[in-house]
Amino acid sequence: MLVRTFTKENEHVLDPLAGVGGTLLGCSLSGRKGTGIEMNQEWIDIYHQVCDLESVPTQEMRHGDAREVLDDLAKSKTRFDYILTDVPYWKMDRVEKSRGTFKKVGEDAKGVFSDKSKLSPFNNTATAPLESLGKDAWKRSMKEIFERCFKVLEPGRYCCVFIGNMYHGGKYHLLNADIAGILADVGFTLKGEIVWYDVSNNLHLYGINYSWIPSIVHQFIMVFRKERKKKLTKEERNGIEKANINRIKTSGMRHEIIDS
Ligand SMILES: C[S@@+](CC[C@H](N)C(=O)[O-])C[C@H]1O[C@@H](n2cnc3c(N)ncnc32)[C@H](O)[C@@H]1O
Repeated sequence: MLVRTFTKENEHVLDPLAGVGGTLLGCSLSGRKGTGIEMNQEWIDIYHQVCDLESVPTQEMRHGDAREVLDDLAKSKTRFDYILTDVPYWKMDRVEKSRGTFKKVGEDAKGVFSDKSKLSPFNNTATAPLESLGKDAWKRSMKEIFERCFKVLEPGRYCCVFIGNMYHGGKYHLLNADIAGILADVGFTLKGEIVWYDVSNNLHLYGINYSWIPSIVHQFIMVFRKERKKKLTKEERNGIEKANINRIKTSGMRHEIIDS
């Protein structure tokens, strides 16, 4: 749906944090060209297995750190018409889930442990990205990736980022606001947000009789654009020309004063 909204057939879509290739599957199903980058070979293998099983044509999936691969793509002058990605939600995948147990902050968990999910977290490799180290390191790694994304995106085109907020250590973290700030610093313009109510997430009751803790059942799709460079009016061009001439004249005068 997002790929169809933001691109036309045969246009080129990038997912710099491709995981098991959701964006690339969308490209194959809608006649777009896709390039994914993923540092974990396990997810790349799953993507290829899914394409095989479902007889879906594969797209280009590059293995490596997005920062290095994006530098290579920029050097080879590869440009994209749209970026769609689901960033790691800081350390969401590393935080122990309560899975039916309960505790006060700092205490051991009590109650019944239900080990429903056998899925491993998304960032469980030895080459784990910086986000495991702390919020600032996560923000730095996101900035490094989106700076490079900005370079390879065609002007006037869009970049959509999936992000969810997080309750951790007794505090609510507005990761969508962090991402909005990081992409603005890099040069993108925030155009809006789509709230995605994730029906697969059940509502839970946390902290009853002690404190209010949110049950998070929504995520955001933050929509950014790389604006085209504004065309200058004749008056603006003349103004710049005059300012340049004045600058040259005054620097010439300075040389004369120094020489004399
Ligand atoms: C939230 S998941 C993406 C899920 C994806 N939408 C899917 O369909 O599977 C984020 C992915 O980014 C990858 N990743 C994190 N840091 C990376 C980096 N620096 N370079 C490349 N991949 C990275 C993780 O391994 C993880 O698979």
